[in-house]
Amino acid sequence: MKALILSGGKGTRLRPLTHTMAKQLVPVAGKPILGYVLDHIAQAGIKSVGVIISPETGQEVKDYLGTGKSWNLRIKYILQEEPLGLAHAVKTARDFLGNSDFVMYLGDNLLSQGVKDAIRNFKKARPDALIFLKEVDNPRQFGVAALNKDGSIRRLVEKPKRPPSNLALVGVYIFSSRIHEAIDRIKPSKRGELEITDAIQELINMGRPVLSKVLDGWWLDTGKKDDLLQANTIVLDEYINRNIKGRVDDNSKITGRVEVDRGARVVNSVIRGPVKICEGAEVVNSFIGPFTSIGEGVRIIDSVVEHSVILNGSLISGIERLEDSLIGRDSRVIKNSAQHKALRLMIGDDTVVEV
Ligand code: DAU
Repeated sequence: MKALILSGGKGTRLRPLTHTMAKQLVPVAGKPILGYVLDHIAQAGIKSVGVIISPETGQEVKDYLGTGKSWNLRIKYILQEEPLGLAHAVKTARDFLGNSDFVMYLGDNLLSQGVKDAIRNFKKARPDALIFLKEVDNPRQFGVAALNKDGSIRRLVEKPKRPPSNLALVGVYIFSSRIHEAIDRIKPSKRGELEITDAIQELINMGRPVLSKVLDGWWLDTGKKDDLLQANTIVLDEYINRNIKGRVDDNSKITGRVEVDRGARVVNSVIRGPVKICEGAEVVNSFIGPFTSIGEGVRIIDSVVEHSVILNGSLISGIERLEDSLIGRDSRVIKNSAQHKALRLMIGDDTVVEV
């Protein structure tokens, strides 16, 4: 069994963050989403991993994952020149995949449970595809499955205008090499992409066995701001333990599950967990409330921050209350010291500011 991780694509829905970074590298609880994906692959006992990258963000992905050694994995990078669809990505990886079974994992998907048990079930039942489903409120944004009364799949449709159910396809799939045959038979969809959903439907048309499993745990497609904040909340809640390695002075109070990484500093502040404070960050004269992730080298001074993700290198200073916010790298949110109430903004493309 091999693994194929899709880390190409455009990331348009997470702009402006993804103007300058791969969406799969946006950190959740201080760790890039791809890191969790690799954890799951390694836990499942897989050794050989192909990672699809794009010309725009490929180098950044390579810089983070390296050879895969930290996960005890062997990574082969596969360049997809253009994001022509998930099935096109599989086509691009054809040489790497050979005739192996493989698990395909979308690099911006986070799952509570790993893929170990699913792989075991796949090996026992030997279908040509095993897919995962989860009930969602907004099925139009996903691939959607219609099931028969006995639970078998009747039909799969990608981003339907009129969804036949609220069961979305999760971005993790397990395939036999038969999927290549199905991909060779499909045509690009209306949005011009070779859809993996259509390829799986083609397997069904070919009379091949396709199994589905409805997920019990949580699943997050981290493609948008609110999803990302939700992912941050869930992951902080589940994974963070109290672990103070940085310096906390005597005037500060830390309650609950808070991780302060080595080289981080907390001065005259209150931190109420779950909170993650990464290496080299500084929190001075501030209150950090639950479900906040503070990236590497961030400075928070004279401010209140809660339920937010602050990416590396940013400064928050003199802010009375910042909540439900996602702040990109090397940004500055600072109090205007002038007496008048004017806002002074320097804002990138596709930004949202609520005042
Ligand atoms: O998240 C689950 C959904 O993922 C499924 O319900 C849909 O059926 C499936 O089509 C997919 O939909 P998205 O519109 O969310 O896919 P997106 O374009 O965001 O791409 C998913 C990941 O794959 C992302 O990490 C980028 C990467 N990718 C995407 C394309 C189109 C590639 O590496 N190459 C590509 O050509």
